[in-house]
Amino acid sequence: MRIGIYPGSFDPVTLGHYDIIVRSSHLVDKLIIGVLNNSAKNPVFSIEERVELIKKVTKDLENVEVLSFEGLLVDFCKQMNANVIIRGLRAVSDFEYELQIAQANHKLNRDVETIFLATSTHYPFVSSSVVKEIARYGADISRFAPECIVDDIYKKFK
Ligand code: PNS
Repeated sequence: MRIGIYPGSFDPVTLGHYDIIVRSSHLVDKLIIGVLNNSAKNPVFSIEERVELIKKVTKDLENVEVLSFEGLLVDFCKQMNANVIIRGLRAVSDFEYELQIAQANHKLNRDVETIFLATSTHYPFVSSSVVKEIARYGADISRFAPECIVDDIYKKFK
């Protein structure tokens, strides 16, 4: 059974993330969305909120599970018996950082491979930061965030 992990902060999950989730769920038998619990990153949404929002968005995807994790990603992979890490690339500017992390992870655990998916051309500019910035000013985020969580995001900034 091929188990993949799509890790991230997901503060909050965006349509760009959702695109990667759906596409990568077809590549593995089971996809675990690993939500990093790291308060040092000062997330706007708590770990519980981030997990709940992703669960809401992925409720119809049968082979997708949402879990939080702390510590090293490769340790979480080992714990979950996962051998594939999935990351999305929006632009060349993402690549340098992602390559470094993928190489570090491979050095830490040679049984885990990182696969990069090119973000759909619909969402190259979509990020959690952009969603938060637009929501903070009460503007329309429906083109950036999954419809079922748009109200949850606005609520956070009321
Ligand atoms: O959505 P993000 O913030 O770009 O996700 C980054 C994430 C969670 C994938 C990365 O920070 C991570 O894996 N953190 C856990 C610690 C770790 O294993 N770092 C890589 C080895 S240096």
